[in-house]
Amino acid sequence: MKGAKITAIGAYVPARRLTNSDLEQMVDTNEEWIVQRTGIRERRISREDEYTSDLCTAAVQDLMKRYGKSVQDVDMILVATSTPDFSFPSVASILQNRLGIPVTAGAVDLSAACAGFVYALHTAHAYVASGLHRKVLVLGADTLSKITDYTDRSTCILFGDGAGAVLLESGGLVDGFAGFHLGSDGSGAHHVYHPGLSHVVNEVDLIDTGKLVQNGREVFRWAVRTVPQGVQQVLDSAGATLEQVDWFIPHSANLRMIEPICERMNYPLEQALYSLEYFGNTSAASIPLALDLGIRAGKVLNGQQVLLYGFGAGLAHAGQLLRLTLDTEVSPPAPL
Ligand code: UT7
Repeated sequence: MKGAKITAIGAYVPARRLTNSDLEQMVDTNEEWIVQRTGIRERRISREDEYTSDLCTAAVQDLMKRYGKSVQDVDMILVATSTPDFSFPSVASILQNRLGIPVTAGAVDLSAACAGFVYALHTAHAYVASGLHRKVLVLGADTLSKITDYTDRSTCILFGDGAGAVLLESGGLVDGFAGFHLGSDGSGAHHVYHPGLSHVVNEVDLIDTGKLVQNGREVFRWAVRTVPQGVQQVLDSAGATLEQVDWFIPHSANLRMIEPICERMNYPLEQALYSLEYFGNTSAASIPLALDLGIRAGKVLNGQQVLLYGFGAGLAHAGQLLRLTLDTEVSPPAPL
């Protein structure tokens, strides 16, 4: 096994803000309910002509600028997204061309909804650790606003758009990656979905409005039960303890879910990082955005251990413990 490390990170969110008071004008809701039940104050919404590939491009540009990195020599591009510009071609292929990455690099999208970024990171680590690839660009990006029903108050208050990018490089003897845990329970596939070619899953007739549909209570219950158990599996596979985890970054679905998850784990909520307060639930982007916010705020430091845990539609989940091994930034990040 070779070592693999994350050497650079970048992020992007669209300029347009959708506030809770904006939503009060659109559906029967109010600021107090949204903040109390979710912790979300604002989300960023992409322009009509702005797609996931555009957000990805901007996130990689941020990464290159901050870390003085080139992506010309990446040999694999992995994009975790549920809202690609097209069913095909992939966002990864569009990105390869737009960033001028040589045609010899592999490019593929991964679909695991809100768990997608951690799945992509796990895949990239396997590629680099096995020696199959040297330098992998990994993105988590979504434009959920494009598939959100803005007449449904139970979902439209949650979602926002964003992208996060990391560069994973062969680290010689240094391996930033410790334990991981993956899982999926398709018996809950009908609890959160975006209709596609089929309209039935688990013998349930799906609602097809062309928009995302969610049974929030069911997903809530499943995640609060599943994530603490998954975190323990990550720790067991790394031979680590929770006390050694400097920062816990669960998927930013809802602060009201992160609180009981931390409580069940007996982990201090102050050491949980999330991106939902000003960006909402950005699906595959939520974890890299939260990591990036922590780095920008000077909280997350090189050498610290970070435990990422993604969960969502599938019902799929994925956790990864890693030690931060970023290169030094050459220029400060632009404000998000
Ligand atoms: O990204 C990964 C997958 N997604 C998730 O992990 C999301 C998980 N679920 C959630 O975040 C929460 O379940 C929601 C935020 C979606 C809903 O919060 P909740 O505390 O579970 O509310 P609820 O569905 O139990 O509804 C409670 C009440 C209902 O009214 P009644 O029946 O008690 O009269 C809803 O109609 O709140 C009502 N309600 C609202 N009221 C004002 C639902 N949405 C709203 C709203 N504003 N936006």
